[in-house]
Amino acid sequence: MATVSPQVESRAAELLRRLTPAERLRMLAGDRDLYRDMLDAAGPERTAPLYSAAGAPRLGLGGLLCVDGPRGVARGVSTCFPVAMARAAAFDYGLEERVGEAIGREARAHGANVCLAPCLNLLRHPGWGRAQETYGENSQHIGEMGAAFVRGLQRHVMGCAKHLACNSIEESRFTVDVRVSPETLHRVYLPHFKRVVDEGVASVMSAYNSLNGEWCSQNHRLLTAILKEEWGFDGFVMSDWVFGIRDGVAAVNAGLDLEMPSRIFMDDRVAKALERGLVSQSRIDDAALRLIRQQVRFVSVGDGEYGAEIIACDEHRALAREAAAKGVVLLKNEPVPRDEGDGPGRPLLPLDPRSIRRVAVIGRLADVPNTGDRGSSHVKAPYVVTPFAGLRAALTPFGVDMVHDDGSKSERASAVAAGADVAVVVAGYDYRDEGEYMGRFPPAGFEKLLPRPPLRLVPKALMAAARLRRGQGGPLQGGGDRRSLTLHQAEEMLIESIAAANRRTIVVLVCGSAVLMERWRHAVPGILILWYAGMEGGHALADILLGARRPSGRLPFAIPTSADHLPSFDPDAAVVEYGELHGQALLDHRGVAAAYPYRFGLTY
Ligand code: BGC
Repeated sequence: MATVSPQVESRAAELLRRLTPAERLRMLAGDRDLYRDMLDAAGPERTAPLYSAAGAPRLGLGGLLCVDGPRGVARGVSTCFPVAMARAAAFDYGLEERVGEAIGREARAHGANVCLAPCLNLLRHPGWGRAQETYGENSQHIGEMGAAFVRGLQRHVMGCAKHLACNSIEESRFTVDVRVSPETLHRVYLPHFKRVVDEGVASVMSAYNSLNGEWCSQNHRLLTAILKEEWGFDGFVMSDWVFGIRDGVAAVNAGLDLEMPSRIFMDDRVAKALERGLVSQSRIDDAALRLIRQQVRFVSVGDGEYGAEIIACDEHRALAREAAAKGVVLLKNEPVPRDEGDGPGRPLLPLDPRSIRRVAVIGRLADVPNTGDRGSSHVKAPYVVTPFAGLRAALTPFGVDMVHDDGSKSERASAVAAGADVAVVVAGYDYRDEGEYMGRFPPAGFEKLLPRPPLRLVPKALMAAARLRRGQGGPLQGGGDRRSLTLHQAEEMLIESIAAANRRTIVVLVCGSAVLMERWRHAVPGILILWYAGMEGGHALADILLGARRPSGRLPFAIPTSADHLPSFDPDAAVVEYGELHGQALLDHRGVAAAYPYRFGLTY
């Protein structure tokens, strides 16, 4: 599908004509310096820069200026929205379009013109560390959510659909080869990307992993035959960051248009290959044209109002709260008789603040800012309303006494719960449990491929790499895949003891995908999933628990009763086969019931 008008097309073609062959070639890689960036990234004061590329100042072409990402702008201070998975649970495409638009506006206010979102990788297994960045297990839903996000975002900046394709194991993302039949690829793993391409997304990011024996960034079938020829994509394809390609010549020939964020492999080896006829001038021209075309298209996009006051403005905060509340999924809400012998009565939720004297909010996650992983999608929020703070703000005006206990001492926490009318246990994960991960630096397989750093930087770069590896400083902290799908054992035990101390116990789950709850879900009358709910999450939780808003979220994936009911998942595997079935369809095929099926969600 053509994304641009004939006028834009002819302007882009004219600009291309005015570029020298050397300038065209230079467009194919980002402007950052790998080793400098490595030092900066490991430094204590890191704020993400604007990653620039493909400019031609001589012709007035400002270039691409990129920022992440999927839950808000990952630069400076910005509105932190609930993660994409939480928004997926709202099943509300109009809402997602508004979130995309707000992120686009803030990206522009930060000086960017490309936002590295949405992430469209299908959730094949809930252990995937970056599950929170995507929209669930269902291709059609992912496609509609992604399209809505792009519709809103692209009123202000270019979008980037990532990571093409089958990037859904985190810890082996640089090495794993995903094997998948052409039928399954087209039926399950690609339609959502096509949907967002049809929506007119300006760019696509290739994945780190390899697909059917070829690295995605060097995969001609994926980037050229399918994306550009079959789907008619006329935007540009960028590599995933830093270690996204291994061979510049192979990448450009396969259809990759831009190596990001620095020139590592798109160097004079590509120029030499061009001289020798191993790369065609028309391919280089096509890549440059694609990069120019989208820049020309977006020069006139926007409403011109991008002052700093947009960032985390009242409207965006209200939207973050609305999105967080609409994403909450109520899984269980049973009546709790007040005294033995009472009739069943009404369900525990919503709470009536006038009939409560004291609420205990318990757990290590109850009163800490916890907006998701600390990888590339991490957003620095101006503040974060924790679950405890949100409930306190809503309940204290009614004279309700609010107590918090971090749950570290089970007996103390049980006593606190026993002394309250209602106990809310906040349990789940944080950035140490799941998220983007850069374990080895450089990743396996790159040691011999990388050019040597400038001599004077060698000692510093080695120290920086070691610091990054140890997880000290740097953008990528903790994270990785979840090898167990239950809560931490101590937290499961805490839930059991709180439930024993107070029959009116509600468990609030903070997570990015499915949690196995078999050990404790029958012991409590109330369960809901809050997700990583963004900077307004605590207020949104209060809105739901007190009934200011009715719960309307539904699960964007099935929650099984056992990990055995899922496809196999091995974050260390070198090769993995992606079959036809996963999620709800796999449970149905195996004839096993879900704990909570796809699209499950209660209301009141
Ligand atoms: C991630 C991308 C991200 C990029 C830039 C990579 O490590 O995989 O999702 O957009 O970094 O931060």
